[in-house]
Parts: sequence; structure tokens; C-alpha cells
Amino acid sequence: MMDIKEVESELSKEVARAETLTELQKVKAKYLGKSGIISQAIASIKDIPQEERREYGQRVNRLKEYAEELIRGKEEEIKRSELQRKLSEEWFDLSVPLEPAVGTLHPITQTLRRIKGILVSMGFSVMEGPEIELEEYNFDLLNIPKEHPARDMQDTFYVNREGYLLRTHTSPVQIRAMLSQKPPIYMVAPGRVYRRDDDPTHSPMFHQVEGLAVDEELSFGHMKHTLENFLREFFEVEVPVRFRASYFPFTEPSAEVDIGCVICKGEGCRVCKETGWLEVMGCGMVHPAVLENCGIDPEVYQGFAFGMGVERLAMLYFGIDNIKLFFENDLRFLRQFL
Ligand code: FA5
Ligand code: MG
Repeated sequence: MMDIKEVESELSKEVARAETLTELQKVKAKYLGKSGIISQAIASIKDIPQEERREYGQRVNRLKEYAEELIRGKEEEIKRSELQRKLSEEWFDLSVPLEPAVGTLHPITQTLRRIKGILVSMGFSVMEGPEIELEEYNFDLLNIPKEHPARDMQDTFYVNREGYLLRTHTSPVQIRAMLSQKPPIYMVAPGRVYRRDDDPTHSPMFHQVEGLAVDEELSFGHMKHTLENFLREFFEVEVPVRFRASYFPFTEPSAEVDIGCVICKGEGCRVCKETGWLEVMGCGMVHPAVLENCGIDPEVYQGFAFGMGVERLAMLYFGIDNIKLFFENDLRFLRQFL
């Protein structure tokens, strides 16, 4: 039989001496482990003579409970004091400057934001429309008749649902604006558009910003002034601007806006195809038939509209000669646009 009193006092001393969890673990193994002192005592209860077995068994079991309780208490005490030690010894210097890996905005996003910023500062509000658009808004109501070449399969991506397509320009947002608002209207619509186009200056997906003003007594002069101011702000220098007569089914008269080539300064080069000029957008006075399609009386109101290619403006602003660079996501390219 084990001297229970003796074991209990030894155990108490050893637990009290343990300073770390590892030391405590050793004490625990010595007494409560599989072949520990107390475990063996329990295993040998069955060999004790009958008369003493019951009392001895109870005492050994009480000792076991006592040991478990004592060790658990000590364990918590050690953990608490280790935490205290960590809190007082370890610390973070919050004043050390960090150098986090910072991403940059894509050059198209930057360009889009600048374009919007300038137009909003002129009093236009921003409106968005869906990329999967009704054929009716993308074409019919814009006075683009069924047989118009712009509807050709080569230009338009159709979706397999009758009457819907991927919008080929942002002009359908004009229609949405005129159908949902009463003049005066001053809005711009930025967004992605899709065409079956693919060469160094044309991409199957690109961005446009559409502009629309509808008000009483609006003239071509108002449009010219607006766009000249916009281009001066955008290119941050005085650039030569010319309005070249052109044709769009939804505007009359229509024009394309050219700026003096920013690469050769008008001397003639590969980028401007030796003309000295670069086309940046289309524009015109909203066709009376389009106003009428949207329930606006062309006898009372006039409108002007314009549509620019964001990639085109970004290429000219940053001096980039291939539109594909915007879509390859090569970090060596993108990191240049901080
Ligand atoms: C239009 O899309 C007319 N909706 C613009 C407009 C609006 C005219 C309102 C009058 C009134 P256009 O097809 O020319 O026009 O396209 C406008 C601009 O988008 C072009 O000047 C060009 O900069 C850009 N663009 C056209 N196709 C592509 C393409 N595949 N990739 C990149 N940019 C393109
Ligand atoms: Mg064009």
C-alpha cells in the first residue's frame, strides 16, 4: 500500500515548484500518467486485502481528484503569468513606416475618371445603361433603319435572344435619358461597348463616353464651345481642334472632331497617317426624328450629342501606339501609370 499522505505532500511540493508548462507536464506524467504513481496505486487496489480495500480505494481516488484539481489550477496560473510576461515584454512599434504593395488604377480607369470629372464640372450628370441592350434603343430609335450598314453582322455582336444585342455604342443611353427625363437634360454616359473590330487601334470591347444636352435654344456653337473646352482641359494644353463635316443617322448636322496630332504636332507622321490630324470623337445636333421618337418636341427643344472613344483618348494622352496593351494586363506596362 502506498503512503497516501507522503505522496500527497510530495506532489504538492512538486506542483508548487513547477514554473513552466513543460515542468508541470512532467509532474503530471509522474503522478497521473499511464504508469504514474497514482495510476499504479489505482491499478493495485484490487490486490489489497478485502477489509482495507474499500477505505484505501476511496482515499486513492480522492488523491487522484486532488492531484487533477491541483495541476489544473497550476496550469491556469502559469498560462496567466506567461500572458502577463508577453504583454509586458513583447510590443509592436506602431510608428514604423510600412511599405505596403500598392496597386494602381488602370490607365483606362484613370482616363475615364478624368473625362467624367471634366464633364461633371461643366454641369453634366452621369448616367449608365446596360451593356446588353435592346436593338430598338441601339438602332431603331436612333434613326438607324433596318438596312443600315452599321447593323451588319460584321459590326454587331448579337445575343441569342430576339431583339437584344451587345450595345455597339453608348448612344442608346441618350434614348434612355430622353425617354425617362424631361428637358433640360445634360447627361454623360460612360461605359463598355462591343463591335466586331480588331486591329492596332480597334478592339472588340472598348469604352465610350456619350454626352447629351437637350434644352431650348441650343446651337452647334454651344456644342463646339463645350467640346473645345473639354479637349483643352483633357489634354492640359491648347490643342488645335477642327470640326469636320460627317454623317451619323441620329444627328444632323454631324461632325467628327479632330485634334492636331499630338505626336508630330501637325507635321505629318505614321500615327496621323501623314494628315497632321487625329479623330477623337463624333458629334452633332440631335436629329429631330430622334427627339420625336422620345416624345420631345423638336419645335421647342434642340439637342447636341457627342461620343468619344476612351481608349483613343488614352492612347493620345499617354502616347501609346497599340490598343492591345490596355487589355494584356502586363504589369510592366501597367506599373508605368502611377
Ligand atoms: C459612334 O459610336 C457614335 N455613337 C458617336 C456619336 C455620339 C456621334 C453622339 C454623334 C453623336 P463612332 O463609331 O465614330 O461613333 O465611334 C466613336 C469613337 O469610338 C471613335 O471616334 C473611336 O475613338 C472609338 N472607336 C470606335 N470603334 C472602336 C474600336 N473598335 N476600338 C476602340 N475605339 C473605337
Ligand atoms: Mg468613326
